[in-house]
Amino acid sequence: MSVADILDMQDPAAVANPYPIYTQLRESGEMVWSDRLNLWLAPTHATANAVLRAKTMGRIYNPLEPQSEWDIFNWLHSDSILDSEPPKHTRLRSLVQKAFTPGRINALQPNITQLCEQLLDEAQTKLATHGHFDILADYAEPLPVLVIADLLGVPRDMAEDLRRWSQDIVKMYEFGRTREQELQAQQSGSDFVNYISGLAAERKINPQNDLITALVEVEEQGEKLNEHELIAMCVLLLNAGHEASVNGFGNGMVALFRNPDQLELLANDPRTYSATALEEFMRFDSPLHFFDRTATADTQIGSVTVKAGQKAGALLGSANRDGSVFENVDTFDITRESNPHIAFGAGIHFCIGAPLARLEMQTSLPMLFERFPNLALAGDPVQRPTFVLRGWETIPATA
Ligand code: HEM
Repeated sequence: MSVADILDMQDPAAVANPYPIYTQLRESGEMVWSDRLNLWLAPTHATANAVLRAKTMGRIYNPLEPQSEWDIFNWLHSDSILDSEPPKHTRLRSLVQKAFTPGRINALQPNITQLCEQLLDEAQTKLATHGHFDILADYAEPLPVLVIADLLGVPRDMAEDLRRWSQDIVKMYEFGRTREQELQAQQSGSDFVNYISGLAAERKINPQNDLITALVEVEEQGEKLNEHELIAMCVLLLNAGHEASVNGFGNGMVALFRNPDQLELLANDPRTYSATALEEFMRFDSPLHFFDRTATADTQIGSVTVKAGQKAGALLGSANRDGSVFENVDTFDITRESNPHIAFGAGIHFCIGAPLARLEMQTSLPMLFERFPNLALAGDPVQRPTFVLRGWETIPATA
């Protein structure tokens, strides 16, 4: 048994609270080998950062077997920006980078504000009729789904399908998935592909002012984007464009309820504190906990040499609790000024949607407290049983 085997990502206790285990994993300050996972774990800020930034640690997608069964799922990943390395990654990233500059994203502000208003109106109606609403299902969840759908040009009434397909696909990133989950992921992957193919074909005939049309035009010019890459890009943007945002917001809200002094501070003055609060949401209980890389050549990370072909996993949630980087590391402090968390990753795959995620949360967080200054839990939140994508199923609230 190796040191890192204290982390069992399928153990409900580790899912409920991985932080004491992370503290132990960080003790040596170095990467630790896990026999259980057959890879190095990078638990400190420095090692996780180094794994994500090393040019010889690549995001290499291993096709799932048998390939015939996983055909669509495999190309959906191997042709996506997230699972590509340069030069393919550089080409794919440059095609969408322009759509995600802070300037282009800030232009979405009125749309985001209007969506928040609408969702808050609906939440208020629920509150009046039932005495409670759900911060996730009624607010944190629909907002990013609708925003990314609008950006791509997917009709809003597809939101429920997008959410369901994404949820089925991301179960494949967890440890210990079941056969049933695999079959569901295959089905949802192909439903998602069929839907986006149809929409792209429709945009060829009837172009609109949206990101799908822009990508279709690039694809038609040839060379820069093939059809699989076009579809994989849209599916990834729609999926990555909401999964972490939903959970990041929810995790932060639960942290607020568990720290009444911080809740009061924010509720009394939401405009002053929301920018630092949302960075603390990302740091204190990060929505994404594990991303792995494969060494394409022997790579030195701290005192450990990762041999070519070996894998290393960056534990983002642990890196963000590293006491050598953050003061009072286990304290949830929404006024924290210096907060160099790596919840959005690092290096060439650094989250392209970070400006969008930040804008969404910077808009929705103060609006939630302006509408409901006395927001409180209406029951126990229910946690998701997943380690990699860390979040809550429900957060019942009253006001
Ligand atoms: C709180 C919200 C979010 C968090 C915490 C987050 C986190 C991350 C992280 C950690 C990575 C890097 C993964 C790796 O290195 O292997 C990443 C990549 C990515 N994210 Fe996000 N993300 C968020 C929201 C978004 C949004 C709103 C979008 C919308 C477009 C998005 C799109 C992407 C894409 C396309 C990539 C791949 C970039 C590349 O490979 O070059 N994300 N995200």
